[in-house]
Amino acid sequence: MTTARPPLIELAGVNKHFGELHVLQDIDLVVGRGEVVVVIGPSGSGKSTLCRAINRLETVESGRISIDGRPMPQEGRALAALRAEVGMVFQSFNLFAHRTVLDNVTLAQTKVRRRSRADAERRGLDLLDRVGLAALADRYPAQLSGGQQQRVAIARALAMDPKALLFDEPTSALDPETITEVLDVMRGLARDGMTMVVVTHEMGFARASADRVVFMADGRIVEDRPPEEFFAAPRSARARDFLAKILQH
Ligand SMILES: Nc1ncnc2c1ncn2[C@@H]1O[C@H](COP(=O)(O)OP(=O)(O)OP(=O)(O)O)[C@@H](O)[C@H]1O
Ligand SMILES: [Mg+2]
Repeated sequence: MTTARPPLIELAGVNKHFGELHVLQDIDLVVGRGEVVVVIGPSGSGKSTLCRAINRLETVESGRISIDGRPMPQEGRALAALRAEVGMVFQSFNLFAHRTVLDNVTLAQTKVRRRSRADAERRGLDLLDRVGLAALADRYPAQLSGGQQQRVAIARALAMDPKALLFDEPTSALDPETITEVLDVMRGLARDGMTMVVVTHEMGFARASADRVVFMADGRIVEDRPPEEFFAAPRSARARDFLAKILQH
């Protein structure tokens, strides 16, 4: 599906294998600036690999991946710079356990963005405020709930001023009562125009905040449509089966 907005993330003809397994098969995907794309599909369909390929955490064998019109470099300094433009939020928050919350959101700013410590702290506190955690800046990750830790991880990603954010099942490790607070932050980002690719089983988020739903199965994009169309009438048998299963929960 094409998008009316200027493209920010573009994949064309992307292929990847893990040994015999063809995990990404001829993937074409364009994410427009400010667009929110939710990626769903059965376990093993390639959703995480897709996210990781966009950020070059995985190499691909063929095809093009570009961010804001520039191809993703293979390695080196250019890769580090471009990777900083696409933030990633994982299921496991990956915070630095022995650093305070504020340090977690300032370290990469001083190292990668070369900001002064004072500037980085100012920006870090603003972002912690935005995710509702300014009061907890001096705590350590282990002293926070899972939902709070995930909000710190989002603030840390935002601190790099990324052009886009990738989320890989950001709420699936959380207790039900803290899922909402993370989804609220994500809904706010979507409203503010952040470009987002979100792998999630939260269909409420997909319905309310996604511009498009991408349904993957067996390494392919099977459907790529607005959520209201996709949920009302999935075209493929694979998507109908998948929805029937997850909506039973
Ligand atoms: N590093 C790896 N080496 C070998 N196989 C891998 C590797 N990473 C993923 N795979 C395999 O590739 C396929 C796609 O994995 P991927 O993690 O992208 O799926 P997914 O759609 O994110 O699944 P889930 O919903 O369970 O997170 C799976 O069959 C997985 O076992
Ligand atoms: Mg996954």
